[in-house]
Amino acid sequence: MCGLVGYIGNNAVEQTLLDGLKNLEYRGYDSAGIALNDNQNIDVFKAKGKLNNLTEVLSNRPKPAKNSMLGIGHIRWATHGKATTENAHPHLSNDGKLVLVHNGIIENYQQLRHELEAAGFVFHSQTDTETAVHAIDREYKKSQSLEQAVTAGIKLLEGAFAFCIMHKDEPDKIIAVRKNAPLIIGLGENENYIASDIPAIIGKVKNIIHLNDCELAIVEKNKVTVKSLDGQILNKEIEAIGFNPEVISKNGYKHFMLKEINEQPVIIRRMAQAHLPESGLPVCWGSKGCMLDLNRIKNISIIACGTSLHAAMYAKTLWEDWLQIPVHVEAASEYIYRANITNANSLVIGISQSGETADTITAVKQAKEKGAQILILTNREDSSIVRYADCTVPLNAGIEVSVAATKSYTAQLAALYWVGLYFAEQNKSLSASLLASLKQDLLELPAKMEEILSNQQAVQSLADKLKNFKDMVYIGRGINLTCAMEGALKLKEISYINANGYAAGELKHGPIALLDEQMPVMAVLGPGVTFAKMISNCEEAKARNAFVAAVLSEKAAVKESFFDAELRVPETNETTFPLLANIQLQLLAYYVADALGREVDQPRNLAKSVTVE
Ligand code: F6R
Repeated sequence: MCGLVGYIGNNAVEQTLLDGLKNLEYRGYDSAGIALNDNQNIDVFKAKGKLNNLTEVLSNRPKPAKNSMLGIGHIRWATHGKATTENAHPHLSNDGKLVLVHNGIIENYQQLRHELEAAGFVFHSQTDTETAVHAIDREYKKSQSLEQAVTAGIKLLEGAFAFCIMHKDEPDKIIAVRKNAPLIIGLGENENYIASDIPAIIGKVKNIIHLNDCELAIVEKNKVTVKSLDGQILNKEIEAIGFNPEVISKNGYKHFMLKEINEQPVIIRRMAQAHLPESGLPVCWGSKGCMLDLNRIKNISIIACGTSLHAAMYAKTLWEDWLQIPVHVEAASEYIYRANITNANSLVIGISQSGETADTITAVKQAKEKGAQILILTNREDSSIVRYADCTVPLNAGIEVSVAATKSYTAQLAALYWVGLYFAEQNKSLSASLLASLKQDLLELPAKMEEILSNQQAVQSLADKLKNFKDMVYIGRGINLTCAMEGALKLKEISYINANGYAAGELKHGPIALLDEQMPVMAVLGPGVTFAKMISNCEEAKARNAFVAAVLSEKAAVKESFFDAELRVPETNETTFPLLANIQLQLLAYYVADALGREVDQPRNLAKSVTVE
């Protein structure tokens, strides 16, 4: 969501902050700003819109008399207050001496603002963040110590926050502090960094410290001291950054999304090799082992949002068949506001690419409080959600820069597949021969994915036909329903064409009223019991003059010219078909959006990790 960065050291502060913000751009944002401290003054620069606008503001100003020694920067995704320059961070205290940037939401901001205004503080924005500046400044006036002021000030704040804070009179430090929002410290030589996410400091430092909730770091040029809020010095583990700078380069592709779609065979091959050494051998959980008490599990709930929720729906269909255990799937934002029946017999699985989605984190936290065992599937093993895990399944898909999830979704499907096989093997719910053939199917997927990616002509020409429609319907049944829903989500989020996924059998109960020559239908027709019924549903759509396209297996038998367009995928089993069909639908969304000239990697209004509920 928002992104923040801080720097203290000998390098050009302004450029270092801009570089950091540039690498956080993928998170989605609507304004940006930096504050520079040259040991005499704090100067704040902000601009609405893209980072280029901020760069322009900076280059149009008179050349500064002194070099800055430290600074903080921010890209904002508006929550409280519109996307305006006044609401952009950093925010300054009334005396212009204390400045901060903030990620998260201060829930009690209204009450605090009221109190601070009554005490004479003047607000210049509509943000919740500005209450934090004045609350900390009020404490500073008492203690004349930034560390003490921050410690006292943030105790008044409810909600989620990560802050970088500087004071004009203490130009030797930046203070970083967090609660329920990610924050890392990058350790350099004679320089140190603060960032909300690794890409901001990738290639700049080799080692980092992860701050935990209610920890405060005093970041100086040659020293970083981490303390608890009661002042205890903490001995923090120094970790190596697990990514190289290449992960945030496009490697010759026009967009990150296309690069990430093309990375999928490698990711799935790596995952299959790690967990399914051979079709005849047991599933291997991985080096950390499965820490779950499987005998205790009487029901499974999978909680997630957006694309990750679609992965959860895939697991439900698969696992209820394989495991004969009820699997409940729910959007995290719904799960947290009702009396659900989670208890000590529940296995609750949180799926989150980023591991920072606020709704999913809250849901998992609630489930843990009710005694459930928690399994987390995430692409970021260093993320906040992992704190609640009894067991974590890392997706190892590499940093996903494009806002639209592609490779992480496919990795989620593959991970849910092998985890399902592991459970089935442990509770002996599938025969040895079926297990072996299901394993073999996954092992064969990467080569089949490569085959799809090596020939993109059919999907490009379909994209060309569909790009000028205003609306579109995707249909699927059974295990392919989620594929249809995910295909529709991908198209709408990056092309802004209104697209919805429906259970094909539900068409006749309402949505069929939409169908005519202006409403194309994309059918996902996997092999198996639903194939014939899907053909009937497509007939119904054709009878209403809709343009009907389909994604289906290479050898699926359909009358010649039955479909207006076909996207074929190599033959595979019913359960693995969605992983192949999904790639065609990702490509379709990509080529439509690109043909329309959309900002594919950073669609409007969206953010990569949604850290607010
Ligand atoms: C869509 C997309 C979002 C995310 C959702 C959950 O392409 O990326 O729908 O899937 O915001 O994000 P995570 O998986 O990070 O919890």
